[in-house]
Amino acid sequence: MDQISKAAEIIVSANTVIALTGAGISVESGIPAFRGSQGLWEKYDPMEYAHIESFRRNPQKVWGMLAELYKIVMKAQPNPAHYALAELEKLGKCQAVITQNVDALHQKAGNERIIEFHGTGETLTCMACGKKYEAKNIDFDNPPPLCTCGGILKPDIVFFGEPIPSDALHQSFLLAESADAVIVVGTSAQVYPAASIPETAKSRGAKVIEVNLEPTPLTGRISDVFCQGKASQILPAIVNKVKEKLFGAKY
Ligand code: APR
Repeated sequence: MDQISKAAEIIVSANTVIALTGAGISVESGIPAFRGSQGLWEKYDPMEYAHIESFRRNPQKVWGMLAELYKIVMKAQPNPAHYALAELEKLGKCQAVITQNVDALHQKAGNERIIEFHGTGETLTCMACGKKYEAKNIDFDNPPPLCTCGGILKPDIVFFGEPIPSDALHQSFLLAESADAVIVVGTSAQVYPAASIPETAKSRGAKVIEVNLEPTPLTGRISDVFCQGKASQILPAIVNKVKEKLFGAKY
């Protein structure tokens, strides 16, 4: 059996399916990933630009990168990979998407149960007074954006050195412990604790399906099925196979 059919078979036989997504799922929406030759961390040192201490020390510098990213993310639309996961949820075959992304593209694609493991870029909080702002109302042309009190705004994303939001952490590991299948899409699986979600699920007997352009530390060790290729092609193909198995017709 080919990898797509194997993946579909696992999804159809599972009662609880969850997805773990990373930057790779949004690459085809025009948002660069972090690692790899085209990755953001080739251009910017993550310890200088993504650590909370660097942000506190020099918000102006970090905002130089953030403003550039915001301009890309605010224009981005979901691609067929995001829509495939939304369709899988409607079919009752994706109980939750746990995403490391902060671009809100799963929401835009129509998924309803989404856990934002690394926070969200949709809102920002004043570092001085705690006032909240929506990204859509912010002018990113003259960073850093400021609060009415004069304080600097910080996106509600999890920087290195910051804890994972406790509710997201708790919900994700509860799901990992009860899932029968995990679909891991477009993550290099190098950042913990997110990367331990498939490991936890596997240790509790779940099957792990991995969709990625390249092998990762999960491949062949944690993943039962490795579908190599673009998420925008692989995920719709898996969903079509799932429908074929559920309803009998060809899609
Ligand atoms: N389809 C499938 N996979 C893809 C595609 C694509 N079109 N394009 C890239 N990929 C894969 C890459 O091969 C890589 O394994 O997506 C992965 C992206 O890896 P990272 O850039 O490391 O992204 P991610 O795993 O989400 O990073 C985790 O690191 O710095 C942080 O906080 C940031 O949430 C992020 C975390």
